[in-house]
Amino acid sequence: MKLLIINGSPKLGINNTSILLDKFILGFKENPDNTFQICRMNTKETYQKAVNEFVDADNILIAFPLYTYSMPAGIKLFFESLEHYQKKCHGKKVAFLVQYGFVEATHARPLEKYLAFICKILECEYMGTIIKGGCDGLSRNQIGAKKILRGMYEIGKSFGACGKFDYDQLNHYSAPEVTKKMNRLLVKIMFWAINKFYWERAFKKNGISVKESFAKPYGE
Ligand SMILES: Cc1cc2nc3c(=O)[nH]c(=O)nc-3n(C[C@H](O)[C@H](O)[C@H](O)COP(=O)(O)O)c2cc1C
Repeated sequence: MKLLIINGSPKLGINNTSILLDKFILGFKENPDNTFQICRMNTKETYQKAVNEFVDADNILIAFPLYTYSMPAGIKLFFESLEHYQKKCHGKKVAFLVQYGFVEATHARPLEKYLAFICKILECEYMGTIIKGGCDGLSRNQIGAKKILRGMYEIGKSFGACGKFDYDQLNHYSAPEVTKKMNRLLVKIMFWAINKFYWERAFKKNGISVKESFAKPYGE
């Protein structure tokens, strides 16, 4: 398979999307018949270039970070630009990689539906979306990075071997869908303690009452 990989992280330097893509490619290349081309899409000039490359390709992986439960503006611009090429997109196979900070997969599920919908409008074949949370610190070699990267390699390998995703593997990789009740309770306790022992102290130091800290001058 010849695969066009579009990296839509808006960052100009090191980015988590490319760290994950490097591992995916490593797995994908295990099949010697596979070739790939990377298109970096992070400036005004590169958006049109990415559109042109998309139009010329048959198999495409579009990777980007989740921004406010959705996508970076550049990715949105890219999709909207494809509207003019609708008739040229018929039959293309399109896959996605969405990675982000929060751990739960549920954060990206609405976006996943949107991506499938975009493919339908463009008459492309939607191949699926790799969803992975907890990726905020990959560039800082965070705890758990090795497991995340190993999983991405495995997904790349199986995609490279059979030209499609194994959905069970994707679901397993995206887990947890939501965090356990116990963890939510722990987070609640942690926030309570931070508010009580850090913020309340800081308010006092600055002569502000807790009640004042909730003031909504523009909302009243
Ligand atoms: C403007 C902005 C919005 C973001 N929104 C979310 C979000 O809604 N949920 C989330 O879990 N992470 C969010 N993040 C964190 C990024 O998705 C995360 O850091 C990602 O790994 C960055 O990828 P990159 O280094 O490839 O750009 C946001 C980051 C930025 C800068």
